[in-house]
Amino acid sequence: MQYKVVIPAAGSGKRMGAGMNKLFLKIGHQTIIEMTLSVFGRDKRCNEIILPINPDDRKLFESLPSIKEFKEKLTFVQGGAERQESVFNGVRAIDDKKSIVLVHDGARPFVTDKIISALLENSKSSDGVICAVPVKDTIKKIEQEVVAETIDRSTLWAVQTPQAFTQEVLIESHTLAEEKGFFGTDDASLLEWQGKQIKVVMGDYFNIKVTTKEDLIFAEAILQGRHE
Ligand code: C5P
Repeated sequence: MQYKVVIPAAGSGKRMGAGMNKLFLKIGHQTIIEMTLSVFGRDKRCNEIILPINPDDRKLFESLPSIKEFKEKLTFVQGGAERQESVFNGVRAIDDKKSIVLVHDGARPFVTDKIISALLENSKSSDGVICAVPVKDTIKKIEQEVVAETIDRSTLWAVQTPQAFTQEVLIESHTLAEEKGFFGTDDASLLEWQGKQIKVVMGDYFNIKVTTKEDLIFAEAILQGRHE
């Protein structure tokens, strides 16, 4: 099954505090965005990679070896002020309504073929498919430094990307969300808000999003573990 992937890459990396787009930081000898890109660049099922970026970063992106390697598949589009807007810009660059579109954070370099296959296999059975892992910690709701509630962990999952949809469904959900001012931290939440059904497949605890400085250390360890 063929698919396209939108990889939002227009963040400023504020929580990383590196003073630059964190996707240009290296894990081992490669930048985070090149690691992410190469998974989709090598995957024969992926026929287009759409990369919403900050135009100020364009030269830097174009200078990366992996960008050159996969440039036939690659389309740059302008990113937005929020991730949601960046994704919407990316999806709008795809013409075919029936295309399967994966949305994947540029900051998750350890996405696996196994996760992609599970998403594709389930993509016809509901409006959207996400990958997630059961949470390991006890989760409490905190208000003004005081515990308000302990939430039953048995039903809680931490959600990752990629997430799979058709172009048509993504366009419809993002258009409505923009019109009504609904904001979600992932794409599936826009569909949920519209009452659509989202299927969940198993993600991978190694499929981390590199967000803060600690994650760089975890990422180095994951990379090293893969080579052992
Ligand atoms: O900040 P965070 O890591 O949660 O962002 C997830 C992904 O969304 C990153 O790959 C980041 O580059 C991207 N993003 C974007 N446009 C924004 C903000 C974030 O493409 N305005």
